[in-house]
Amino acid sequence: MTPFHFAILGLGNIARKFAEDLALIPDAKLVAVGSQSLARAEAFAQEFGAVHAAGSYADTFSGPRVDAVYIATPHVTHRELTIRCLQRGIPVICEKPLGLNLAEVTEMVEVARAEKVYLMEALWTRFLPSTLKLKELIDGGVIGDVESIRSDFGFRAKDLHTALPSSTAPAAAPDLSRNRILNPALGGGALLDIGIYPQFLSQFLLGEPAEIRATARLSAAGIDLDTQVTCRHAHGRLSHNYSTILGRTKTEALIIGSKASLHWHPRWHEPSSFSLLRDQDTPPENFYFDFGEANGYRYEAEAVMADVRAGRTENEWWRLEDSLALHRTLTEVRRQTGIRYPQE
Ligand SMILES: NC(=O)c1ccc[n+]([C@@H]2O[C@H](COP(=O)([O-])OP(=O)(O)OC[C@H]3O[C@@H](n4cnc5c(N)ncnc54)[C@H](OP(=O)(O)O)[C@@H]3O)[C@@H](O)[C@H]2O)c1
Repeated sequence: MTPFHFAILGLGNIARKFAEDLALIPDAKLVAVGSQSLARAEAFAQEFGAVHAAGSYADTFSGPRVDAVYIATPHVTHRELTIRCLQRGIPVICEKPLGLNLAEVTEMVEVARAEKVYLMEALWTRFLPSTLKLKELIDGGVIGDVESIRSDFGFRAKDLHTALPSSTAPAAAPDLSRNRILNPALGGGALLDIGIYPQFLSQFLLGEPAEIRATARLSAAGIDLDTQVTCRHAHGRLSHNYSTILGRTKTEALIIGSKASLHWHPRWHEPSSFSLLRDQDTPPENFYFDFGEANGYRYEAEAVMADVRAGRTENEWWRLEDSLALHRTLTEVRRQTGIRYPQE
């Protein structure tokens, strides 16, 4: 089969993991990489075998044919870069969160639909074999009705003391200009970076909530350090979605069903395993998966390849409407909690 050509914009942490996974897909080829720094692009291209290295995002497409571009820059740049690529007719897989707010996501989706060009938010968890198996069990009625969901995601952000009001600033304050987790100008905070995963899980299994109640602890600059979202879904079913950058949490999920429950092991959002918990007297039934060397990004990449090759303009498992529904909730959570970004 003709190799599928990927380009990557923004060569940071996640770009590296994605490129490692692309190398595991026999018919995928990373052909072009774009960075704000030509030296970084050249080093990355050499490491991953891309033939074209560009010192600007615009120049990334002046080399070989690109079948899809993976946008791996901070949240605040997603809207503009995605729209520019879509308007050039280039299919896009853009990192989560697709945009900073619902207005941005809506605009991106409208451009994709108007241009009839592929767009998908890189909600990689949706494509993991563990997620597919879990959904298969739920759809097969194994746990009965999903009655309630509780999930979390937390880690301690680097240089967190700078965002805590009680802290005394060290003699030399760290440079946060490239710290996208803490920097408001880069869309920092827990909700958009990691809170998106618990929220995804609840909407994936219970649908868009009818009622949302959110509380958050904000830094002085207005980003969220700790956010709790309780949602009421159809039939009054609740989901409890927690994210924090104050410290490590278990990062697990419990899906409570009317006949049995599922315990998704830490860290549930990435290559992981889960247990089926029936009654107290029955030992848990464990489901393990062999992800090989994959970081977990190959599955979303393969989905994009299949979609674009088939001429589809969106993915059926993570539709544009799913992104819109997710960002409707995240934006409402931001409204209730006061999370704010200087560029809005
Ligand atoms: N799916 C996942 O598991 C996952 C995990 C982590 C992050 N993410 C998402 O991926 C995106 C990037 O996260 P990351 O952890 O890879 O971030 P990162 O390590 O900071 O890298 C982001 C890259 O974007 C480029 N960039 C463009 N404008 C920038 C700016 N104003 N400030 C800093 N960098 C800028 C830089 O690359 P160049 O200088 O080379 O252009 C930078 O290296 C985020 O939206 C995040 O939510 C997803």
